[in-house]
Amino acid sequence: AYSERESLYIALGFARDFFVKNLLSPEGKSIGLSYFKERGFSNSIIEKFDLGYALDGWDHLLKAAKSSGFQEEILLKAGLILQKEGDPSRVYDRFRGRVTFAIHNIGGKPIGFGARILTKDKNQPKYINSPETAVYHKSDVLYGMYQAKKAIRAKDNCYLVEGYTDVISMHLSGIENVVASSGTSLTEGQIKLIKRFTDQVTVLYDGDPAGIKASLRGIDLLLEGGLNVKAVVFPEGEDPDSYSRKVGSQAFQDYLVENSRDFIGFKIGLYQDEFAKNPIRKAEVIREVIQSIGKIPDPIVRSVYAQEASSLLEVEEDVIHTELNKSLIKTQ
Ligand code: CTP
Ligand code: MN
Ligand code: MN
Ligand code: MN
Ligand code: MN
Repeated sequence: AYSERESLYIALGFARDFFVKNLLSPEGKSIGLSYFKERGFSNSIIEKFDLGYALDGWDHLLKAAKSSGFQEEILLKAGLILQKEGDPSRVYDRFRGRVTFAIHNIGGKPIGFGARILTKDKNQPKYINSPETAVYHKSDVLYGMYQAKKAIRAKDNCYLVEGYTDVISMHLSGIENVVASSGTSLTEGQIKLIKRFTDQVTVLYDGDPAGIKASLRGIDLLLEGGLNVKAVVFPEGEDPDSYSRKVGSQAFQDYLVENSRDFIGFKIGLYQDEFAKNPIRKAEVIREVIQSIGKIPDPIVRSVYAQEASSLLEVEEDVIHTELNKSLIKTQ
């Protein structure tokens, strides 16, 4: 007999195979595969990421799984089916009429799915994701880590993006050391996972106000985790997927190299315009930068950044240390 966890893994593996197979069915080809092709995804990348298609209908997966011997209880616990509101004895497929992105654990087993809508229907969420289950703890998972871990070690750097398609498009651009926080804000568990492979992260969040806000929060959390952090800002409205397709692989790679800045440069860059002429604005930036430096656990690293901040912001190092001490006392 299988343990419950084992049964969940088997059910999720069955669902992965079912979605992958259905991408090549007539419905899957004309709706799902053509969608992926429009986004520039090759057959080999589709295979590498276990991309698939959930047929439109209430019980395609449910029926197939039941006739292969899976019990409803396991499918429910795996997050693959839902109970009808008001009548929990009736169940139906969670993922319907959407392309699917298998979410793997670092050993490569599917533990959940994200599923993207294919229409522009604003009344439905763009992505539907698996819920928390016994084998899928969202706060400990980074999308793409299974496909990225070797490259992260080899490059000794991890690119962090927002979304599923950012990870996939970066692989297509020849960059494999990339994982996604999948829209949720970065967690300590995810940072621990990265630290198993490298101590350097480059944040590549979307070039919109939400992405910049998430970058600032993520940067501080990464610094607190003792990581070396860089970040890149994309042009307004672009994310790594859209931008790499717009400019091509080589220009995209060049853009990353030319625009990677450490957290001090990143913060200064956000204020650049106002900053030169306005001492009050400048004081704000200085405080912002000191606040982030204060997150760094290693005092020697902290003092290296204090020096850098002093020279970039043209403010006496003593001033930085005084402020830094104040903020360190506050957080103790
Ligand atoms: N996300 C989600 N549910 C939503 C919207 C977003 O779970 N309704 C997550 C997904 O993991 C998504 C990530 O947040 O990949 C980033 O969201 P967004 O930037 O809006 O989507 P993209 O990844 O850019 O997706 P696409 O390019 O397909 O529009
Ligand atoms: Mn948990
Ligand atoms: Mn976004
Ligand atoms: Mn995006
Ligand atoms: Mn996108």
